Amino acid sequence: MLWAVGGLHAQRLSIFDPASPSASSIVNLAILVLAIAGLIFLAVEGVLLYSVWRFREPSGQQTDEPPQVYGSMPIEVAWTAAPTMIVFFLILVTARTLWDVEPSLPQPRSGDNALFVTVIGHQWWWEYVYENYDGRTLGFTTANELHVPASDGDVRRPVYLTLKSADVCHSFWVPRLSGKVDLIPGHTNLLAFDTQQQGLHLGQCAEFCGAQHANMLIRLFVDTPTEFQQWLEHESHPAAEDPSASDGKAAFLAESCINCHTVRGTPAHGTYAPDLTHLMSRTTLASGMIENTRENLAKWVHDPQSIKPGCLMPAFGIEQQKQQLIVNYLQTLR
Ligand code: CUA
Repeated sequence: MLWAVGGLHAQRLSIFDPASPSASSIVNLAILVLAIAGLIFLAVEGVLLYSVWRFREPSGQQTDEPPQVYGSMPIEVAWTAAPTMIVFFLILVTARTLWDVEPSLPQPRSGDNALFVTVIGHQWWWEYVYENYDGRTLGFTTANELHVPASDGDVRRPVYLTLKSADVCHSFWVPRLSGKVDLIPGHTNLLAFDTQQQGLHLGQCAEFCGAQHANMLIRLFVDTPTEFQQWLEHESHPAAEDPSASDGKAAFLAESCINCHTVRGTPAHGTYAPDLTHLMSRTTLASGMIENTRENLAKWVHDPQSIKPGCLMPAFGIEQQKQQLIVNYLQTLR
């Protein structure tokens, strides 16, 4: 499913193609550790294979066991000291990288170009509460697709994500931008990055969180500062009124949809499920699983379980004509 939506964007998930300073530190450390472990592997296997070959039984000859040698001080010292030194070196370089990528949460202030978002993990989708950008309080909520501004040249636009969970443990992971950071019930974690690489970055939940863990996908859009400002402006507004969908709106508000979903500017204030205020500004549905097309949306309203079995939205058995009206209405939520 990921491939269906993301196209062949496997490269957008590779830690070996880092797009932020902290992701670069992590991949540099990974390569260093891999190189050291690789050399140890080659040395150990080399000695082993050499010994197998060198001390093999000569063909056609039955020999006794070779003389057995017990204890060797130089060898004992060597194989204790060498690994100790290697492990100590690895501790130092790992600590340096941890230090590099460990964020601290600054106070938002005007002119800092910093974006603050609270990310709440749910089974199985992402809630994003936009708190503050460049010292300006925002306070709107969206879901599943995260938009952030790109840094350019000397202007850094850092992104600070405060991570929480509404239910079980999840883990936020966009491999090209940062390491995995867990979302833990009753505990707050912090993740920070900044990137100059515009465009779509893919990621996913990296902590097993139930049946649809693998379909808890992340789509992170790095916009130009202008695009981002426009997006912020648009998302800050309540849903647009479209008189042509008033029947659909009435149908939506009459059903149990509103117990879980919010559409700002209407009586729908549910917070249990994704905010639908600007549903049509998202490219995918069901947390990145399927493209946001009318057909898929209709399928989802009809029976979410046929798309994402186990998800917390049941099929409500709404009559067909009403479903169509509701889909008409949802399609006006631009
Ligand atoms: Cu959320 Cu795995």
